[in-house]
Amino acid sequence: MKLKKIVILGTGGTIAGRAASASDNIGYTAAQVGIEQLVAAIPAMAQAGPVLLEQVAQIDSKDMSFAVWEQLARRVNYFLARSDVAGIVITHGTDTLEETAFFLQSVCQPDKPVVLTCAMRPATALAPDGPQNMLDAIAVSRHAGAKGVVAVCAGTIHSALEVQKVHTYQLDAFSSGDAGPLGYVEEGAVRLLRNWPTGLQGQARIAIRNRANSTTMPDWPHVEIVMNYAGASGAMVEALLAQGVQGLVVAATGNGTLHHSLEAALLKAQAAGVKVIRATRCLNGRVLPKPGDTLPDSKGLTPVKARVELMLRLLA
Ligand code: SIN
Repeated sequence: MKLKKIVILGTGGTIAGRAASASDNIGYTAAQVGIEQLVAAIPAMAQAGPVLLEQVAQIDSKDMSFAVWEQLARRVNYFLARSDVAGIVITHGTDTLEETAFFLQSVCQPDKPVVLTCAMRPATALAPDGPQNMLDAIAVSRHAGAKGVVAVCAGTIHSALEVQKVHTYQLDAFSSGDAGPLGYVEEGAVRLLRNWPTGLQGQARIAIRNRANSTTMPDWPHVEIVMNYAGASGAMVEALLAQGVQGLVVAATGNGTLHHSLEAALLKAQAAGVKVIRATRCLNGRVLPKPGDTLPDSKGLTPVKARVELMLRLLA
């Protein structure tokens, strides 16, 4: 039987980064090497089966934009609809990978695998991690039954719903928090621990998916993140209200607690019609709702994912 294609979409990041010296793992420029060159530099890709390459963007993911997200969602939807395509691998910077993964799972809800991969060391490093991550991502995208948006880094598979960057430097930079990883890739074999990501169904998602399929640019709502900390005030919220902010996610302390000054400003914003969501700045756990809560919780989403969710909800 003819092996189906894996589409590899390049968006930049450290995996495509270049440094002046091979011993420099941090003083590099991200998003320099094109996807063709990146794949050509991995000899083992010759055994990966047929691949189709496309450069969707070439950016440092700290600069991720709504325009790139929309283009990515369009290309993902286009390739997933093709019967000759088994799955998609997306090379992406690590810094906002979790947001893109959550966005794509929300708007595309793929029933084929969409695997985001990355690197913590540039392509020019003495021992780059990108090539192995790419091979592992291909293995996941070719795994029978794989579906949904996942991230693959350092031999670990994370669901788009839980993946979070937790380290600034180490190669194993991602965690799935309390949920634990989805699985591992070991010598090209996938060892699955949990089910592939599904969910995020609903009218809002369908509306967004239709928009992502269209060529018109949606007007993204203005949603910002504010944080609670010792001595927090309502100043940021007041400033954002003056700018006409439509949604606010607060990275609260602990189990959703807020300095009384910040809470007062958020309640004022909510009363004025701004959607306010309470997430936690804690790395693990979630805000557990209590009777009488005045600000809704993020239902386990981290602040950055709660922001994506809120923007999509407001868009729909
Ligand atoms: C980026 O996010 O594009 C740069 C950092 C990285 O990929 O590790």
